[in-house]
Amino acid sequence: MATPAPAGRPLDPVQVDLSTRLATLRLPDPVLTASGCAAAGRELAPFLDLAAIGGVVTKSIMLEPRSGRPTPRMAETPSGMLNSIGLQGPGVEAFVAKDLRWLREHGVRTIVSIAGGSTQEYQRLAQRLRHEPGIAAIEVNISCPNVESRGQVFACDPFSAAQVVQVVRRHTAPDVPVLAKLSPDVTDIVAIARSVREAGADGLSMINTLLGMVIDPDTMRPLLGGMTGGLSGPAIRPVAVRAVWQVHAAYPDLPILGMGGIRTGRDAFEFLLAGASAVSVGTAVFNDPSALARISAELRGLLAARGIARLSDVVGLGHVQQARHVAAQAARRAAQEEALA
Ligand code: DHB
Repeated sequence: MATPAPAGRPLDPVQVDLSTRLATLRLPDPVLTASGCAAAGRELAPFLDLAAIGGVVTKSIMLEPRSGRPTPRMAETPSGMLNSIGLQGPGVEAFVAKDLRWLREHGVRTIVSIAGGSTQEYQRLAQRLRHEPGIAAIEVNISCPNVESRGQVFACDPFSAAQVVQVVRRHTAPDVPVLAKLSPDVTDIVAIARSVREAGADGLSMINTLLGMVIDPDTMRPLLGGMTGGLSGPAIRPVAVRAVWQVHAAYPDLPILGMGGIRTGRDAFEFLLAGASAVSVGTAVFNDPSALARISAELRGLLAARGIARLSDVVGLGHVQQARHVAAQAARRAAQEEALA
């Protein structure tokens, strides 16, 4: 028998407080863009009030301009997509001059995602961004799957992951939270979380895409120019929810920005219950550029229908519910056994 969820009387949706926190960062709304799916956010401006959403997480920026991997760079997959962009981007100088400036002028809470090929590159990026105003947080992308070698996926090794995070934390302004973006392609994601936490990460972004491949039956070879790519979309949601759940269970105080296949308010709710304090939406914006506003409104309606006045009350609530359920089950079993004795 299911343990009923704690339910109050349904509320008017306007009564629901959607504000949340990610480490020291206060967000009026819990729904942000996910890195890589909306460049530096500006392209969503015709569809959304970017200053009203939780924030924009930029496409990962590198030190130098980069043209990325060979085409084709995208492939459809069941309930998802595979991409192999290869960290294409304008480089940090152009990013600061154009994108960051635009975001600042438009009052957008901006989480700058950074990526590098070495610890030193991450350090130089952090140093370059340190005195730039208008950066709400830094997301350290240590888990891009589309790099030259798996050795560059720092998030697959606890020591390398910690080294990068420590350097970025050291060179970032103390009041700017540093979030480490983790890869699900590891045996024990809690071990990686522990390592980056000890290295000074103020929070985590989870999860990045999963490494995948599509083979074209006509050409009989890999469809993507880069052969492998990152799998995203609803297909990966259960993997992401599981990862958030495991890490929140181990470190309930470590803030998590949850992502992976979120398409609806209900999907976002799953991540909050698992332990995320806010969520990022990526792949869904490709076919619904106003998805973030819709997801936020759906989440508001869903909380109101359950009589929940504050979003912050449901962060990690799935764990509490599960513990209650297990305790109730044990009590029922004990009562049954006593009746039989
Ligand atoms: C790219 C980077 C990522 O972190 C990811 O998950 C997918 C693609 C890229 O630029 O190739």
